[in-house]
Amino acid sequence: MSRPGFIIAAFIGAALLGACSKEEPAPPAPAAKPEVVVAEPELDPVTGLIMAEHWEIVRANCTPCHSAKLVTQQRGTAQQWLTMIRWMQAEQNLWQFDPVTESRIIAYLADNYPPDAARRRAAIPAALMPPNPYSSTE
Ligand code: HEC
Repeated sequence: MSRPGFIIAAFIGAALLGACSKEEPAPPAPAAKPEVVVAEPELDPVTGLIMAEHWEIVRANCTPCHSAKLVTQQRGTAQQWLTMIRWMQAEQNLWQFDPVTESRIIAYLADNYPPDAARRRAAIPAALMPPNPYSSTE
């Protein structure tokens, strides 16, 4: 091999060796996901009640007769919760509350178990429904 030819071959060889021993470039770091912090409400492990302000008052007054599940599966506005309480007071021997306690209970319930639009759709207006073959109004 001529001298320049050898130098070129050596150079190419060295370059190839260098190329082979080169480390793979690190894969690009995955784009950092935007941090979405959804504050999961902490649940009381015993009753399942959301441990928000006044929850102990609700635990004390709303779980002696029935499971707290009856409370936590229900949803309502303050007015709807009050109506449920008035019904239990009238029909189910639920005791009377002093006004402060009552307003705390209602606030807790309406804040933590509010009507949830996503849970239920509104009823379809009768005019948009197909004729009811079983209608008894005719
Ligand atoms: C003195 C007993 C008693 C206490 C205390 C009591 N309840 Fe009730 N509650 C009942 C009874 C009885 C029922 C009917 C249970 C059934 O239908 O099986 C009921 C039913 C309910 C229901 C279901 C209503 C429905 O329409 O399905 C909810 C919600 C409820 N109670 C919430 C509460 C809340 C909130 C409190 C605390 C403020 C509470 N209860 C305290 C006796 C009580």
